[in-house]
Amino acid sequence: MYKIAVAGTGYVGLVAGVTFAEVGHQVTCVDIDEEKVKVMKSGVSPIYEEGLEELMQKNYAAGRLEYTTDYKSAYKDADAIFIGVGTPEQPDGSANLSYIATVARQIAETIENDCLIVVKSTVPVGTNDKVEQFIQDFLINDVKVEVASNPEFLAQGSAVHDTLHAARIIIGTESKWAEERLTNIYEPFNLPIVSVNRRSAEMIKYASNDFLALKISYMNDIANLCELVGADVQDVAKGMSFDERIGSKFLNAGIGFGGSCFPKDTKALENLARQNGYDLKTVKAAIDVNKDQKTLLYNKASKRLITFNGLKVAVLGLTFKPGTDDLREAASLENIPLLLEKGADIYAFDPVGAENFAKVHPEGPISNGSITYVSNVEQALQDANVCFVFTEWGEVKAVTSEMYKDLMRTPLVYDGRNIYDVNEMEEAGVEYHSVGRPSTSVASRRESKSYEHHNS
Ligand code: UDX
Repeated sequence: MYKIAVAGTGYVGLVAGVTFAEVGHQVTCVDIDEEKVKVMKSGVSPIYEEGLEELMQKNYAAGRLEYTTDYKSAYKDADAIFIGVGTPEQPDGSANLSYIATVARQIAETIENDCLIVVKSTVPVGTNDKVEQFIQDFLINDVKVEVASNPEFLAQGSAVHDTLHAARIIIGTESKWAEERLTNIYEPFNLPIVSVNRRSAEMIKYASNDFLALKISYMNDIANLCELVGADVQDVAKGMSFDERIGSKFLNAGIGFGGSCFPKDTKALENLARQNGYDLKTVKAAIDVNKDQKTLLYNKASKRLITFNGLKVAVLGLTFKPGTDDLREAASLENIPLLLEKGADIYAFDPVGAENFAKVHPEGPISNGSITYVSNVEQALQDANVCFVFTEWGEVKAVTSEMYKDLMRTPLVYDGRNIYDVNEMEEAGVEYHSVGRPSTSVASRRESKSYEHHNS
């Protein structure tokens, strides 16, 4: 059992702290936000994450988990301090390291025992060398201190599960002492541990995330081509997936990737390459494809409809993916302002994301249009002229072709997640457009008519 402090209680820090307590360590989570600390002490999770609250309550009651704003008491005799504070993207795509620097200095001025500092936040390759130097520069007591890199691979919505059942634990250290201490901390998780040097560990995080982003952008690129040549990207993905070298995951074409990691990490690696005089063409392409993909369906719908002005537009899903209330880089954030600008009256449904979205766009008239948040899909679809699907929530997947046909004034659906069967939509008489798959013939008849008209 180790005495562990965790700096920052965002997704990375809180989930790390809670799971360390769950496997038996003595954990104190530190955050500067008093209100948040109070909320966590009362057993409530500040983020929506399946299974997290139960583990918070259980380990808090067992006395293995504490929350505090008093970093000094948490850091001074810790065996290890995990840093999970944010590294937000700056306008030039580089990571803002000021939160890490603040914590590093607090650590240097506080620790009284030999201590391993473990950076979980995603940081540009080479940053942890600088963090270590920074801590050494400010160190007050004569203690051994080393910085290790331990990148995090959890996905939002399944963070607890991903941590307890991670595919691998990456440990980046520069000494036997650090390697052993970190290995021992992770030992009770009983997971594969890959031990490398610090810079390689930092690079593994970016290389992994950007590879997945690239995989998605590649499939979106292929999807767009499929549409032009009459292939179906879902069938193509299925055919590809039997090759173990390709794998079956992250082959879903759609409205592009969002979230807190892929958009930020692709830009950060591209930026790092540029700073080193290298043109990272593949990652640049992933960013490029993703940018266009976000508004692809909006652009299609704009061509199909004369105007959005005064139309009732149903929006199903606001978050960047299901299972989270996070809106970062979500397709809804790009498309809704465009629709409002064009005078659409939006009726938006999201089972958990509406509250956050309303902070950006409060209910009522906005721009030339308006936005209303509704509590079920039926209310969104009732009498709608057009529907956009941005997130594949269970409630959205459960909408049948008959519901679209019966509830909407004109059953016209743009699905950014490819969740419905094209044939079922066809049979119900719904005009249905998705990504990289054929549209229903109701739609293609219309398309060919306008094509004939255009050419006559
Ligand atoms: C991701 C990584 O999965 C995780 O390992 C890393 O630590 C953080 O970034 P997250 O952003 O939470 O996690 O979600 P993820 O499920 O990976 O989805 C990211 C985005 O890609 C979502 O917008 C999702 O809709 C999109 N996506 C994912 C696709 O468009 N197609 C796919 O096939 C998979």
